[in-house]
Amino acid sequence: MPGNIMDYDTVALDDERKALVIIDQTKLPGRVEILSLRRQEDIHRAIYLLQVRGAPAIGVAAAIGVYLAALGIDSDDYSVFYSEFRKAKDYLATARPTAVNLFWALDRMEKTVTDCKGMPVAEIKTRLRARAIAIRDEDVRACRAIGEYGLSLIKDGDGILTHCNAGQLGTVKYGTALAPMHLGREKGYAFKVFAGETRPLLQGARLSSFELVSDGIDTTVICDNMASQVMKNGWVQAVFVGCDRVAANGDACNKIGTSGVAILAKYYGVPFYVCAPMSTIDMSIKRGEDIVIEERPENEVTEMWYRERMVPPGVKIYNPAFDVTENALISAIVTEYGIARPPYSESLRKIFMAIEL
Ligand code: MRU
Repeated sequence: MPGNIMDYDTVALDDERKALVIIDQTKLPGRVEILSLRRQEDIHRAIYLLQVRGAPAIGVAAAIGVYLAALGIDSDDYSVFYSEFRKAKDYLATARPTAVNLFWALDRMEKTVTDCKGMPVAEIKTRLRARAIAIRDEDVRACRAIGEYGLSLIKDGDGILTHCNAGQLGTVKYGTALAPMHLGREKGYAFKVFAGETRPLLQGARLSSFELVSDGIDTTVICDNMASQVMKNGWVQAVFVGCDRVAANGDACNKIGTSGVAILAKYYGVPFYVCAPMSTIDMSIKRGEDIVIEERPENEVTEMWYRERMVPPGVKIYNPAFDVTENALISAIVTEYGIARPPYSESLRKIFMAIEL
C-alpha cells in the first residue's frame, strides 16, 4: 500500500484537472485507488455507490462537484448561469436521501450564487470555489473540536465501541466519532476500540478498523451481533457513533444497526455518545421519524462480499441503510460548539441561537 491511509485526503479539489479527487472507499482496505472525477454523472455515481461516503465527506464532495458544474457553464448571462447551476444542484441532490450534509452543502453553494446576483459570472465562479473550500476547511475544524470535546468524556485505557465509519474516511480529517480516538492517540492514550463490522457494506470492518490500525490504535473488529457480548464482558466504557441527520429533538439517524447498539448500551449502563457537526443537525425536522431512510439494492445483502450468493432465490430482502436512535437512548450529542445534554430540544436550540448571534 502506498503510504498511510491517514495521509490521504478523503475529498479534494484538483484545480488543474478541474476534478473532484477521492479515495475509492469501495476498494478499501485491499487497494488504495484514487479517483479523479470530472463529469457530473461520475460524481453522482461516486456518492451513490459510496466511493465517497459519510455525511460530511458527501457534503464536501457535493460542494466541489457543483462548483465544477458551475465552471463548465458557458454563459455570461446570470439567469442562464443560475438556471444551469440549479439543474446541476438538483441532480447531485438526488444521489442519496438521508445525510442532510448533501443538501446543506448544496444549499450553501446556491446561496453564494443568489447572494452574488448582479456580479459577473466569472466572479461568481471564483466565489463558489472559495465557498467549497470553506465548507471543506470548516469540516476539518469542526471534527478537531468534536474530537477535543469527545476526548473529555473518556479516559486513558477505556474500551470504546463504534459502529459504521465516522472517521477520517467519512469526513475530511479526523472524523467525528473516531476523532477522540485519533486525538487521544496523539496525546499517548491507549484506547481499545471495538469496531462493529456494520453489515451489509462493512464500513466498520473495512474502513474504521483500517484507519484506526493505520493510526496505531488497538482495534478489534466484531460482528454486529457480538456487541452485547463485549458489553457484558465489561470491555466497553463508552459508545461513540456518528450520524447522518439529527432532528431538532435529538433523535439521531445513523447507519443501520446503530439504534440496536444504543439499546444494548442503555441495558448495560454504557454511555452512548453521538458526534454531530452542526452541518448534520437539521432543525427543520422535528422528530427522527420524519427523516427519509434510504433503502439500497438487495444484492448488498445477498451477495456482495460473498464468493457466491448466500440467500436462496425467491426470498424477500429488506435493506434500509439507516435507522433512528431515539433521543432517550443518547447520553450526549457532541458538537463542535460543545456537548449537548438532554433535553435536546433545548440544548440544541441554545447552541444554534448562540452561533447565529
Ligand atoms: O452509508 P454511509 O457509509 O455513508 O453511512 C455513514 C454513516 O452512517 C456515518 O456514521 C455518518 O455519515 C457519519 S460520518 C462522520
